[in-house]
Amino acid sequence: MRSLKEKRIILAITGSIAAYKAAFLTRLLIKSGAEVRVIMTPGSTRFIAPLTLSTLSKHKVFTEVIGEESWNNHVEMGLWADAMIVAPATANSIGKLANGLCDTIVAAVYLSARCPVFLAPAMDVDMWKHPAVQNNLSKLVAAGNRIVPVGRGELASGLVGEGRMAEPEEIVAFLAKFFAADQDLRNKKIVITAGPTHEPIDPVRFVGNRSSGKMGIAIAEAAHRRGAEVKLVLGPTSMDTDLVPVFKVRTAQEMFEETIRHFVDCDVAILAAAVADYRPEHVSNQKIKKKSNTLRLDLIKNPDIAAELGTRKKGEQVTIGFALETNDEEENAFGKLQKKNFDFIVLNSLKEEGAGFAHDTNKITILGKDGSKKSYPLKPKTEVAEDILDALVALQI
Ligand code: C5P
Repeated sequence: MRSLKEKRIILAITGSIAAYKAAFLTRLLIKSGAEVRVIMTPGSTRFIAPLTLSTLSKHKVFTEVIGEESWNNHVEMGLWADAMIVAPATANSIGKLANGLCDTIVAAVYLSARCPVFLAPAMDVDMWKHPAVQNNLSKLVAAGNRIVPVGRGELASGLVGEGRMAEPEEIVAFLAKFFAADQDLRNKKIVITAGPTHEPIDPVRFVGNRSSGKMGIAIAEAAHRRGAEVKLVLGPTSMDTDLVPVFKVRTAQEMFEETIRHFVDCDVAILAAAVADYRPEHVSNQKIKKKSNTLRLDLIKNPDIAAELGTRKKGEQVTIGFALETNDEEENAFGKLQKKNFDFIVLNSLKEEGAGFAHDTNKITILGKDGSKKSYPLKPKTEVAEDILDALVALQI
């Protein structure tokens, strides 16, 4: 299948041992129908020869930002391409691109590029996990770039873990999916809440719930792939995503403020978080000692983010909610739909084995404000996310 037919792609190679895979990647891109131009940092030329890449791509390879022919080429190249893929992307290059430094042809073309930019990171597991690298990646994602997820396995250092560059086949598939995907949410701005909230009792304890945030994160990633500009407001969970900007919060109050702030210039809010309905009225400054046999906690109501957005929404703004019910499911969910002024509500079935909190699968029914009802079979949360977004697109906003 010529899935990248006539796509103009810049392959930018930086200095990692994974650079040897760039030859296969070039061949695969061309085989998929793409026209490829290769640029390389000087460091990468120690891992693979420019001659290999110029032979495979049938075009001159540029390795210097200032050279007899390459001066000004970076601007032309940046405008020429339909996509730029930095593969492998080293910690060093990621740092430079994230911070706008410009001492290589790769950085110069990146800064001049108007096309979508993809990065396939490659590094050792400890470098990959380092907050400095992760912060730089978050910056690149926040600037609209797309990360091809790293693989797990044995690394060149002999260590085992995350950080291995995606295989050339996976990178081509990632690009092909991007170009093939129905960009039916292009130009839509969506804020999504996900995960639990933790309501502090004292400096070490909290009231919370077992939400993992998986469903909301799956929706955020799917919406991003379908072209939306996504902001994810995420409660405390071990789950995370590199694909969209994440705003981490802890309490319902923090989630409330962050979500309201983003909703002002959003088209859609999807409220997938399991927000604690109540919080301890008094938070102890010191760790509470176990003196008495019983301990009484007075709880007060948290703000309802969804209800607040329901009253604030203007014009064509859409809000979508979730309901997790243990009895009279549909009746209760429909009540919430009306009370919180949702455009539709996604009812999670708790009765189904494999659905709900912490599972990778979910079984939903979508209830519309027009009284419509559609039930779906048990599916992976990634597919459920697509169903929910299909229902959003069907609203024709
Ligand atoms: O009333 P209930 O908590 O069952 O409503 C669930 C829906 O409302 C979910 O979409 C949830 O994210 C949202 N919600 C909220 N703020 C709250 C409570 C619930 O946004 N404080």
